[in-house]
Amino acid sequence: MADLQREEILSINQKGWNRVAPLFYGGTALPVYGPLATTEDELNLIPDLDGKRVLELGCGSGHSLAYLWEMRNSRELWGLDFSEAQISFTKELLAKKGIPAKLFLSSMDENPGIPENYFDLIVSIYSLGWTPDLSHTLALVHSYLKPGGIFIFSWEHPAYRSLRYDAGIAKYVFETSYLDEVPALNPSWREVEIVINHRRLSTYLNAIIQSGLILEQIVESEPNTALAREQDLAPEKWYSVPRSKLMPTTFIVKAEKPTSLKL
Ligand SMILES: C[S@@+](CC[C@H](N)C(=O)[O-])C[C@H]1O[C@@H](n2cnc3c(N)ncnc32)[C@H](O)[C@@H]1O
Repeated sequence: MADLQREEILSINQKGWNRVAPLFYGGTALPVYGPLATTEDELNLIPDLDGKRVLELGCGSGHSLAYLWEMRNSRELWGLDFSEAQISFTKELLAKKGIPAKLFLSSMDENPGIPENYFDLIVSIYSLGWTPDLSHTLALVHSYLKPGGIFIFSWEHPAYRSLRYDAGIAKYVFETSYLDEVPALNPSWREVEIVINHRRLSTYLNAIIQSGLILEQIVESEPNTALAREQDLAPEKWYSVPRSKLMPTTFIVKAEKPTSLKL
């Protein structure tokens, strides 16, 4: 699948996300950073947002935007998602709550009209990894942030997928290579076709550094059993408590746009 091109990836994934959107409704939204992962309530990564401007890349059903308005007092919300179904969910949720927001239907590796040097905070909660072009997306993030602005994203820990539960021996085995970085077509992800971009942790971190943002904090999440439901105890489940005790489900990165040029 190494030869999958951007347009093909976006077309497959847009169709897929339009179909699976209802399954993810409110599923991975702030203060939660990821499945069975440490939350914002414990980490306190988000700066004071009183009256500030916020953008979310891959805003899904809009629950993180609602949190940033209702619980963190941000006063200007912008959101972007490439799925019509997800943008409709966001519009509906925010309208019901009377929260104003500027929303774009667009892939996050394009700028559909977002201002530069404008935002105090940009977040992307379990969405950044979907971009077909990580470097360009991060260059856009850098351009949208004000000097001193903060970018926070969470994504599945790249090593997590390598573990598979082998019921025959009742153990996890390290099955797939952590090193492979090609976009992989999964024909039956949640019963839809989807392309998943496998990238290493170092690829994310180096891309942040190359974008000109300064890394402030990297969290490899502890298992958070407070978020676990009965079914999350089953070892063969993708996000399961026993698996999250061997490998973090999620990594979280906080980075800042420098206030002055490095000489
Ligand atoms: C796991 S969901 C994020 C959930 C979100 N945090 C929420 O609270 O609903 C991932 C989101 O990324 C979006 N997405 C996937 N690829 C994208 C792309 N290339 N550009 C913009 N959004 C994308 C999907 O439509 C989906 O809404």
